[in-house]
Amino acid sequence: MDRIEKTVMVIAILLLVVFFGAIVVAATNYGVDVPTCVTDRKPFVESAPPFKTSDQPLRYEVHTVARMWMFDPPEITVPPGAEIDLYLSSADVVHGFHVEGTNTNLMAVPGAVTYTRLKFDREGTYRVLCHEYCGTAHHLMAGTIVVSHTAMEGEQ
Ligand code: CUA
Repeated sequence: MDRIEKTVMVIAILLLVVFFGAIVVAATNYGVDVPTCVTDRKPFVESAPPFKTSDQPLRYEVHTVARMWMFDPPEITVPPGAEIDLYLSSADVVHGFHVEGTNTNLMAVPGAVTYTRLKFDREGTYRVLCHEYCGTAHHLMAGTIVVSHTAMEGEQ
């Protein structure tokens, strides 16, 4: 083996040791951790129903996680006229969030949060469909938004 080749190999191995050591020191002394997914953290991890953030105007907030092959929470229930601040992310691959009969069309992207404000004046059940091909059960991936007068006026 050539002398220069040997020297380069020794330097490469030393650098590996230094970088690995830096990772160990960062993890043990400085609390630097492996990054976690946004959907593994509050408030996304809680799978909570919409909660009221304002009375005037009536406004709810919900954090939805799209994953193969469902939306979590699967059903969003609000009273008519209420605004919904919807925060959306994905736990695995890219999904879509289309509310049937409306122009709401969001992407659910892993590691990112998309946002929209929805408002439904009429009572009814609106289907939420995934519009990005996301695997074998893509065509079954759906949720609902239920707009109803009996919906949790006093809840939370
Ligand atoms: Cu999720 Cu298609």
